[in-house]
Amino acid sequence: MPVETNPVDKQVMSYLRDMVLKELGIVLDEGKDYLIESRLGPIARRESLGGLDGLATAIRTGRSPELKRSVLDAMTTNETTFLRDVTPFEVLETSVLPKLIEARRASRKLRIWYAASSYGQEPYSVSMILNDQFPELAGWQVDQLGTDICRNALERAKAGRYSQLEINRGLPARLLVKHFKKEGPDWQLSDSIRKMVKFEELNLIQRWPPMGTFDIIFIRNVLIYFDIETKRQIFGRIHDMLAPDGYMFLGSAESTLNIDDRFVRSENGKGGCFRLAKAAKAAA
Ligand SMILES: C[S@@+](CC[C@H](N)C(=O)[O-])C[C@H]1O[C@@H](n2cnc3c(N)ncnc32)[C@H](O)[C@@H]1O
Repeated sequence: MPVETNPVDKQVMSYLRDMVLKELGIVLDEGKDYLIESRLGPIARRESLGGLDGLATAIRTGRSPELKRSVLDAMTTNETTFLRDVTPFEVLETSVLPKLIEARRASRKLRIWYAASSYGQEPYSVSMILNDQFPELAGWQVDQLGTDICRNALERAKAGRYSQLEINRGLPARLLVKHFKKEGPDWQLSDSIRKMVKFEELNLIQRWPPMGTFDIIFIRNVLIYFDIETKRQIFGRIHDMLAPDGYMFLGSAESTLNIDDRFVRSENGKGGCFRLAKAAKAAA
C-alpha cells in the first residue's frame, strides 16, 4: 500500500534517497519515490517500525547495521537473465574468446570479472560457453570472479538454483538438459559449472581490493544507475585493470561515449563490446 507523502515524509524520502546515493551510488530522483515505498514499505512493516519514517529513524540512529544492509539490498535492482541480449554472448563466442585464446596460448591463463553478477545467470552463461565450445581450455587456468553489492543476490548466485520462470527466460533447452537437474520446483546447475565462478561482495563505488588484471570485464546494466562522475571513476579504474588487449562488455543502453574516450567500441560495434582505444589503434 503506498505511503502518504506529507511534509515529514518528504524529508524521510530525501534522507533515504541520499543514503542510497551515498552507499550504493544509485541515483533516485523524486519520480522514483514509488520504488522506495514499494521496496522499503514491506521491511518497515515486517520490523514493526510503523512506516518509512520509523525505518529512517532506526537507520539514522545506527541501532541496527543489519537493518541498513537489508534496506540497501532491497534498493538494488537485480533484473537479469541467461544469455541476456544474446548478441554479447555471440560476440564473445565467435570473436573475443577465439582471439584471446590465441593470444594466451603461452600463458594458458584467462581471467574474467563480472562486476555486477546479480543472481549469476551472466557468469554461468559464459561458463557454459567456455565449457561446451572451448574444450581446448581444459588444462588452462581460467579464473572467473562474480561480484555484487547485494548479499541476497550473491547467495543465490553461489547456490546456482533457479526457478522455472528464470530458466524460461533465455536458457536454451539444450543447455538446460546438459547442465541442470530438476530439484523440487527448481533447477539446480551442475557443480562442474557452478565451481567455475567465485562470488564475492564488492561495492563498485567504494575502494576495490587488489584484483589483478582481467582479460574480459562484464559490467553490464549497472552503470545506468550511477551519475556521470561515478561512471567516469569506474571506467578509470577498469582502464587500469583491463589487459592491454582485453575487452569490456557494457549493457545495451550503456556507453563510454563522452565519459572516457580511452575506450572504443569493438567487434563492429556489436554486443556492447569495448576495448582500449590504444589497442584498437595499434591493431588497425
Ligand atoms: C540489473 S542487475 C545486472 C545484472 C547483470 N550484469 C545483467 O546485465 O544481467 C544490476 C546489479 O548491480 C548491482 N549493484 C547495484 N549497485 C551496485 C554497487 N554500488 N556495487 C556493486 N553492485 C551494485 C545490483 O545489486 C544488481 O545485482
